[in-house]
Amino acid sequence: TTNHLRHVDSLTISPSGAGNISHLNAVILGEALASEEDDLIFPSDEFSRQALVPSSAKYLEMYKRSVEDPAGFWSDIALRFHWKAKWGEPVYSENLDARKGTVKIEWFKGGITNICYNCLDRNVEAGNGSNVALYWEGNDPGSDCSLTYSQLLEKVCQLANYLKDIGVRRGDAVVIYLPMIMELPITMLACARIGAVHSVVFAGFSADSLAQRIMDCKPKVILTCNAVKRGSKVICLKDIADAAMVESAKNGVPVDVCVTYGNQSVLNRESTNWKEGRDIWWQDVVPKYPTTCHVEWVDAEDPLFLLYTSGSTGKPKGVLHTTGGYMVYTATTFKYAFDYKSTDIYWCTADCGWITGHSYVTYGPLLNGATVVIFEGAPNYPDSGRCWSIVDKYKVSIFYTAPTLVRSLMRDGNEFVTRYSRKSLRILGSVGEPINPSAWRWFFNVVGESKCPISDTWWQTETGGFMITPLPGAWPQKPGSATFPFFGVQPVIVDEKGVEIEGECSGYLCIKHSWPGAFRTLYGDHERYETTYFKPFAGYYFTGDGCSRDKDGYYWLTGRVDDVINVSGHRIGTAEVESALVSHPHCVEAAVVGFEHEVKGQGIYAFVTLVEGVPPSEELRKNLILTVRNQIGAFAAPDKIHWAPGLPKTRSGKIMRRILRKIASGQLDELGDTSTLADPSVVDQLIALSDC
Ligand code: PRX
Repeated sequence: TTNHLRHVDSLTISPSGAGNISHLNAVILGEALASEEDDLIFPSDEFSRQALVPSSAKYLEMYKRSVEDPAGFWSDIALRFHWKAKWGEPVYSENLDARKGTVKIEWFKGGITNICYNCLDRNVEAGNGSNVALYWEGNDPGSDCSLTYSQLLEKVCQLANYLKDIGVRRGDAVVIYLPMIMELPITMLACARIGAVHSVVFAGFSADSLAQRIMDCKPKVILTCNAVKRGSKVICLKDIADAAMVESAKNGVPVDVCVTYGNQSVLNRESTNWKEGRDIWWQDVVPKYPTTCHVEWVDAEDPLFLLYTSGSTGKPKGVLHTTGGYMVYTATTFKYAFDYKSTDIYWCTADCGWITGHSYVTYGPLLNGATVVIFEGAPNYPDSGRCWSIVDKYKVSIFYTAPTLVRSLMRDGNEFVTRYSRKSLRILGSVGEPINPSAWRWFFNVVGESKCPISDTWWQTETGGFMITPLPGAWPQKPGSATFPFFGVQPVIVDEKGVEIEGECSGYLCIKHSWPGAFRTLYGDHERYETTYFKPFAGYYFTGDGCSRDKDGYYWLTGRVDDVINVSGHRIGTAEVESALVSHPHCVEAAVVGFEHEVKGQGIYAFVTLVEGVPPSEELRKNLILTVRNQIGAFAAPDKIHWAPGLPKTRSGKIMRRILRKIASGQLDELGDTSTLADPSVVDQLIALSDC
């Protein structure tokens, strides 16, 4: 086809100087891609012609510069933002090798800026104040509102003034426990404006999880709301926040101020539990403040936010991002991976409680002056057509979501999709977990009617922004592959010894060199930062993911290789679930593994050993699940509890999870060598109790 030839032409460009982009050689050197054309999905000529990166040749040219001259490449982009003072030299400095000293990453150090100013004031000053910044779609169809850039700026300034007035200063932590209402991005931006460090806690987290985060970052203030509706359920967030504050106070971290947004239509004031002296109604104070507020100019390397994420131990990690590099990186990745144009209407279904909501609901899009849809509700309420009704209502052109939602909508049938026009859609996006080729094809063919490229963006809380992602229009796509690295990103695949493997291969995914959006530390625990991410494979950032590279140089992410499971795109540490389970008085030991789940991607499978003499029962099973819901959140509830008289352990007492994973996935003939177990008969007992 002409499409194919066009791409092949652009792939035969000279690979001069490609030594450090060798992972692309397979593509550059080939006369044609080695794959059958059937495996490849080409963007239309019409699409490519209008794209920001219209060909693979253009991508290669830009990529090459980005890795050969990172300082020049990123400085040119950074200059498009507003800086009160320019950064010094060098543009960046890095040490990713713990053997050579403290691991350190800095970008644009000495540059003085403010990300809120760049998101709002800069766009208003450019004459775009009357453009819509945020469309808010409420849980119930028909409830909605919007804010222009000027209006959003005013709201942010009022809150910023209030926060300053109650003593929040540059560098102070602020905990945000809010659902997807306008006040959530408003609060993030208000913190950024005054140099306070926000720590958003996803509103699905339990009181215990919230308390743990409060105790770790010791906020000056917490902002929440009294109650919210999600689907047909009412959730009393304030009660959860109250319980968390009681818990944190007991542990020596009292919260002095709790600003509560009153969601009157869900729960009135009189019915909201209240602690005089600590609690304040948002609506009583914030609207009284002036609508302009002085900007706190900060260093590029001053902290912007903390976001807690799961690791392989029970204690969540406070991932810390700084200002300048994060700003430049999220804005640039947003622009290119979604081929963003000023005429686009953008909707990302993620909650601001996760990194996707930080980088690609709030900062990345607003930095580009985009119009963003935010949605409070559940994507299948009142029915499975809700997403497409929203797409039609706002004329969404870029729709970014998670594979778990794609799979669940796919299961509900095409009728819910085809009922709506979806004519405005131009680009689709996927994030959070590998997207299986069948879900990819359904998304592409049914939702996008075979005309919208899919940006399958691979990245992490730690990376700040996209790392491996298609650039729509530049490359033929392969369903299920995140394709190629973003500008400035140098992925490498290493074996167990940390040796880089070239060409077609599988192994552990690491990143060589820093990029502007990289996290700088784990809050209060730089040692854990080094140990977890930089020591496993010396000299590299270790992602925790497995990955393979095919004969054409495309990257395929294969999932976590550590004790983290990915449930509906939410990261959960197996150790966190285990520690919740063993807190139940009837549970002596628990081991948690992931198993393949049709909709969630991975489900949670818990092996539980009960206290001697306690019989397993349905009630106990429910109780154990409830314990996890209460301690972590509903999204971490085990899908399966497997009663285990004993767990398979080595003679040194280490649980052999490999065996448990096989039992969980029903691959009983692939258990492998069990002879090294302290008591091999445990395995037979477990198998006998399968499906109980
Ligand atoms: O395993 C990868 C998976 O999600 C992990 C990061 O989770 P989190 O920090 O919560 O951030 C999620 C949103 C960026 C990764 O280690 N993951 C994320 N995106 C993809 C993915 N796996 C495959 N393909 C993706 N596009």
